[in-house]
Amino acid sequence: MKIVIINGPNLNLLGKRETGIYGNVPFDVFLEKLCAAYPDDDIEYFQSNHEGDIIDELHRRGFEDAGIVLNAGAYTHTSIAIADAIRAINAPVVEVHISNVAAREDYRHVSMISSACKGVIAGFGLDSYRLAIEALRNIEG
Ligand code: DQA
Repeated sequence: MKIVIINGPNLNLLGKRETGIYGNVPFDVFLEKLCAAYPDDDIEYFQSNHEGDIIDELHRRGFEDAGIVLNAGAYTHTSIAIADAIRAINAPVVEVHISNVAAREDYRHVSMISSACKGVIAGFGLDSYRLAIEALRNIEG
């Protein structure tokens, strides 16, 4: 199965950024292990700090035969445009968060994108991405 992982703003700094919340493993190190755990799947990765670039990537990938794992970072809480992009495409999108956003600041309790996604996985550290892949594999049957 083809899986596209899309990470939003500040997630390029994983491993260095607020390590008490997000851990100290850089995403590329985690991704290598994730790909090794799913040798039969084609896992591709895109990261951007820019809302429009994330939307462009959703448009680009959203009509391929792929499942999308999306951690939109802080755009989760603000971006109607990303929610609209998710609604506009065919590919199933799983919303992912490393931290348990429901247990953090009030402004993180709101997600503009959840209702456009197949489901949400949050709070399991980087393992949230693997759980999202498992969910997509089950959707695809
Ligand atoms: C995050 C949670 C967001 O609230 C935050 O802005 C992030 C990361 C997470 O993965 O826990 O950048 O999406």
